[in-house]
Amino acid sequence: MFSNWSIQLKYSLIFLITLALIVAGLFIGIYTLKTVQLRNEATASAEQVVAFRAWIANTGVVWVDHLAPEFRDFLGKRTSSDNTSEYFSKNPALATRELSEIVSKTATRATFRVTSDEYRNPANAPDGFETAAIQTFKNDRKQKFTEAFEGNFYRYSQPIFVQQSCLKCHGDPKDAPPEVIAKYGDKRAFGYKVGDVRGIISVKLPDVTLTQVFLTFLNPLTLGLIVLAFLLNFLFTQKTIIKRLKELAQTTERLAQGELDLPLKDNPGSHDEVDHVRHAIDLLRNSVVVAMRRLQKTLG
Ligand code: HEC
Repeated sequence: MFSNWSIQLKYSLIFLITLALIVAGLFIGIYTLKTVQLRNEATASAEQVVAFRAWIANTGVVWVDHLAPEFRDFLGKRTSSDNTSEYFSKNPALATRELSEIVSKTATRATFRVTSDEYRNPANAPDGFETAAIQTFKNDRKQKFTEAFEGNFYRYSQPIFVQQSCLKCHGDPKDAPPEVIAKYGDKRAFGYKVGDVRGIISVKLPDVTLTQVFLTFLNPLTLGLIVLAFLLNFLFTQKTIIKRLKELAQTTERLAQGELDLPLKDNPGSHDEVDHVRHAIDLLRNSVVVAMRRLQKTLG
């Protein structure tokens, strides 16, 4: 099929194949970079959650002087000594759940939630990805995170380990504050030891789609550079190889037809493969001239 093709056509085909291979390589690179980028973003988001939880955990619970209409949940209640005002406590997990709800409504990218296989609040129940992640962290304590692509989303999770301070509410039910028992009973999420996987922080981000990656290539500058590269290659082969080969072929044909003193166009300073062919033809022509003279002498 290719045997009748000109060098120019073959070369153009090779150029296009090369281009396709480079683009494929870039695609793979961008795809890897994309995952790293999403992971970094998710990690940053999870770190904020860790910091927020730590801020509350370090002081026990936060007390608020009234409940916002959309966040009526609280752990304990206290009335001031003069009986005029009420205060409500929010433990780290509860406050984090409320923060997560606010973020889910307002955030344009990362949303998060805290979940566990031993959840106290049904709103915290894990989904498929999260259940698998919890299992992974329980099986392998060294695992730092898990990630997955689901539909148009990137999912990320990192483990939450039990520390000494958690045992008050997640260790022996006997030690637990009465309001925890009153609200959640003495069965759920107790009996943990320090170092156990208590749950996970689960982050969700919109994925970068293949179309989006593809569209990044479809900008005038990139396309212009590709056309420029093609023209550069096209003109170079045209000028350095094809045009000279054609001239050489024509001259050689005329030599063969008897114009033996036809000058071969010299290319001063150039010593590439085409020049070697021209030199070889020149030698051949000289040999033919010598042979003809000898022949003429013998005949004459
Ligand atoms: C003051 C008591 C208290 C302490 C201390 C406490 N927790 Fe909790 N934890 C709770 C309560 C109550 C819930 C249920 C919250 C809700 O309704 O969302 C909970 C829920 C959770 C959840 C979410 C899953 C679920 O059960 O719904 C995780 C994860 C969690 N706690 C981890 C921890 C870790 C880790 C620590 C220590 C750093 C800790 N907790 C300390 C009371 C506590």
